Order: sequence, then structure tokens, then C-alpha cells
Amino acid sequence: MASNVLFPGLLILITCSFALASDNSPLQDFCVADPNGPVLVNGFACKDAKLVQASDFFFSGLHLMGNTSNAVGSRVTPVTVAQLPGLNTLGISMARIDFAPWGINPPHTHPRATEILTVIEGSIQVGFVTSNPEVRLISKVLAKGDVFVFPEGLVHFQKNVGYGNAVAIVGLSSQNPGVITVANAVFGAKPDIPNDLLAKAFQVDVKVVDLIQSKF
Ligand SMILES: *[C@@H]1O[C@H](CO)[C@@H](O)[C@H](O)[C@H]1NC(C)=O
Repeated sequence: MASNVLFPGLLILITCSFALASDNSPLQDFCVADPNGPVLVNGFACKDAKLVQASDFFFSGLHLMGNTSNAVGSRVTPVTVAQLPGLNTLGISMARIDFAPWGINPPHTHPRATEILTVIEGSIQVGFVTSNPEVRLISKVLAKGDVFVFPEGLVHFQKNVGYGNAVAIVGLSSQNPGVITVANAVFGAKPDIPNDLLAKAFQVDVKVVDLIQSKF
């Protein structure tokens, strides 16, 4: 009897191991993105391999400081398949994050990627929150040269805890990690999520929700 119950479970496990949320492995040396390709596939269609140039695998500018003059005091400079077409199908990307003094990268998640971060300059508090029901905050202050990993899909954040600028470089396990910023998604959706729904969800007055929605 027990094996009859186990068997379908095993089948599902085996099937699911081929349907992970992470990017698929490439089936050829490369598939440089052809954003104008007429074929709609998961990712981008491949540019003709004979026409591929070194420039398709190249990006320049990550030495440049991002503009942090904004409400949160940080700027992400992404290098994903959108900026570097050679990343198509390779399951990897990176970014530079600049922080003004006390600037933050607000709580957000990458639906398709684990993120690994290293501090190049300054001192940065990082953290992520585990899923329900524990919702445990795991947080640490990092110094230059330290490395921290944010597991795939979990809500995470960074904060410059120094008086000078801070810089981090991150790697992401997707050519197109995606970003869902919690505050924007919840309070800045277009059209708005109904304010009475959010008032109940956050256990506050509708006026508080209206105020927060007006900021996004
Ligand atoms: C940085 O961004 C701010 C706000 O958008 C803008 O006013 C300023 O000119 C920008 N600075 C540079 C150097 O681009």
C-alpha cells in the first residue's frame, strides 16, 4: 500500500526536477538575443551565429557611478540580457548598485534568480526574510570584500550604513532575473489595488492606505 502512495509522489518529483524556476541550460554554445526576431520563445530568438560579433558578448560602463539622487538614495545599473544580448539562454547576469550615504535598495524580490553580492566600497547592511510562517529576518552588516547570498524569490534589501558612498556588485542566476519592488507592487499598481482591501490586509485605516498610494 505504502509503495502505491509513494510511486505517484516519486513521479511528480522526477517530473518537477525538469521544471525549475531557474533558467534552462543552453543546448548550444550560445544564442545571442535577437530582440527583433519574429519568433516568440521563452527568452529571445537567436541571432544567426555566423553574424555574431564580440560586441554581442560585451558591455561597457560598470566602472561608472550610478545616479543616486532619488527618494531611496540608490541606483541599480543592470547588465542583463536587455543590455548584453549574448546572455540569452546562459542563465546569468550581474549589476552594480550605488548607494548614497544611508541610501537603501528597498525590499524587493527577483522571481527568477538567486543573487550573490559583494561590497566593493563602504559598508552595507543586507537582509532577507524567509517565507511563511516563520518570516524570519536574516540580516548582517557587510564590509568591503564581504559576500552575501539572497536565496531565489525571497524578499531582500540593502542599506548603506556608512557616511560615504557604498558600491556593491551582484551576480544573478538568470539572464532576466526580474524585479518586484514590494512597495511599488502593493501601493503603486496600475490600476490601484482597492484601498479597502489593502486597509484590511495591513490592518490600518483606508486614509493611511490612500496616503501611501499617493507616494507611488
Ligand atoms: C541625477 O538625477 C537627478 C534627478 O533625476 C537629476 O536632476 C540630475 O541631473 C542627475 N545627475 C546627473 C549627473 O546626471
